[in-house]
Amino acid sequence: MTIDYSGRIPNNVNLAEDRTLQRALEQWQPHFLDWWRALGPEESQQFDVYLRTAISVDPQGWAHFDYVKMPDYRWGIFLNAAEPGRQVHFGEHRGEPAWQEVPGEHRANLRRIIVTQGDTEPASVEQQRHLGATCPSLYDLRNLFQVNVEEGRHLWAMVYLLHKYFGRDGREEAEALLQRHSGDADNPRILGAFNERTPDWLSFYMFTYFTDRDGKFQLCALAESGFDPLARTTKFMLTEEAHHMFVGESGVSRVVQRTCQVMNELGTDDPVRLRAAGVIDLPTIQRYLNFHFSVTIDLFGADESSNAATFYSAGLKGRFEETKRDDDHRLLGRGYPVLALDGGRLVEREVPMLNALNEVLRDDFIRDSIAGIGRWNRVIEKAGLPFRLQAPHKGFHRRIGSLAGVWVSPDGRVVDDAEWARRKHEWLPSPADLAFVAALMGRVVEPGRFASWIAPPAAGINRQPLDFQYVRFN
Ligand SMILES: [Fe+2]
Ligand SMILES: [Fe+2]
Repeated sequence: MTIDYSGRIPNNVNLAEDRTLQRALEQWQPHFLDWWRALGPEESQQFDVYLRTAISVDPQGWAHFDYVKMPDYRWGIFLNAAEPGRQVHFGEHRGEPAWQEVPGEHRANLRRIIVTQGDTEPASVEQQRHLGATCPSLYDLRNLFQVNVEEGRHLWAMVYLLHKYFGRDGREEAEALLQRHSGDADNPRILGAFNERTPDWLSFYMFTYFTDRDGKFQLCALAESGFDPLARTTKFMLTEEAHHMFVGESGVSRVVQRTCQVMNELGTDDPVRLRAAGVIDLPTIQRYLNFHFSVTIDLFGADESSNAATFYSAGLKGRFEETKRDDDHRLLGRGYPVLALDGGRLVEREVPMLNALNEVLRDDFIRDSIAGIGRWNRVIEKAGLPFRLQAPHKGFHRRIGSLAGVWVSPDGRVVDDAEWARRKHEWLPSPADLAFVAALMGRVVEPGRFASWIAPPAAGINRQPLDFQYVRFN
């Protein structure tokens, strides 16, 4: 399935045959570009960036590399190929043919799901817009921009669905996606983590490791949807998401590696001496991890949710790897444990699984996240050092669900207000940590050079050398 690049909007959905839709999207396009210029990567409009662009959705052919000015990036609409005879795999409609149009009774819920997903995409671009000014290398700058243009494309993916399937409400929602802004007091993004700041590159790597992984799990759940266009759209988005998580995992790994190297050179684990030597001490990395892990697991929503049950039973949003699971895919009468407070302690309480599907997805996410933390620990182990990074307890620093308002330490103890106030900066980045990391950030743009606080990557992008000119400033 090749992509039509001849029109204003590259696509593999035969846009030229649907003139009304094409015109509507062509009217939205300049609004998107205005948004990109105003709130996309700062002062980058003239840079030539060595970017990957989709030229086909086939596994081999979709990644094409060349220099592009970001405002000229060909944001387009790409769906994975249709699976002939695809059925709804779960819920009350299990076994029926997948829907090619929006079923009337599920219209409001589907629109809400698509808008919520769509809102996260431009939000992260807004959150990351200042980072180019303090990049640790050209390689990293290019990766930041790659993530940014692809999040822009993910917005296009959701806007296409809104325009094509939701008529006038869909067009209004598509406009609103450009009007809400991350951190805006009056008109914020929908979900909490997407209104947080991404003030420095350690935050960026943590964000792309944890929060883009939330994206992966949400997209995997939507890729199971009985609404076939949503499933096909999200499947292609997932191929791009893999690179974002790679940027996060390898980024944190390189920070850890550099810190361990200096710890061994100086023979110390004293944060004061390590900071003076220009690297980020491991306890500070742990506090960043605690912050990003906790705000990200809140994105999965309340532990018990009747909406989650409705979305599943209606066939709109499945579980992670729904079709690989060996059960009845209806889940009636099954239970699942969620955390609850009981006499000052956290206990597990069984609730109907259908209502706990947010928790099911959160637990799948946590398992996947912990695997990467283990890979960071192997870097520390290889350096011969005893420190280990850890995921905090699921109840730590929660603002959504039954544990919102309960103070839980990273090791899972319920603590009182006084202990939380006394120790929260042992557990979460303190203003001093943030100021230190901010002061460390400086712009490194000489090809092949890397900032003091991060190791070079194992390999370049698209088999280019590390000293390749990944970005040309004009
Ligand atoms: Fe995305
Ligand atoms: Fe992403």
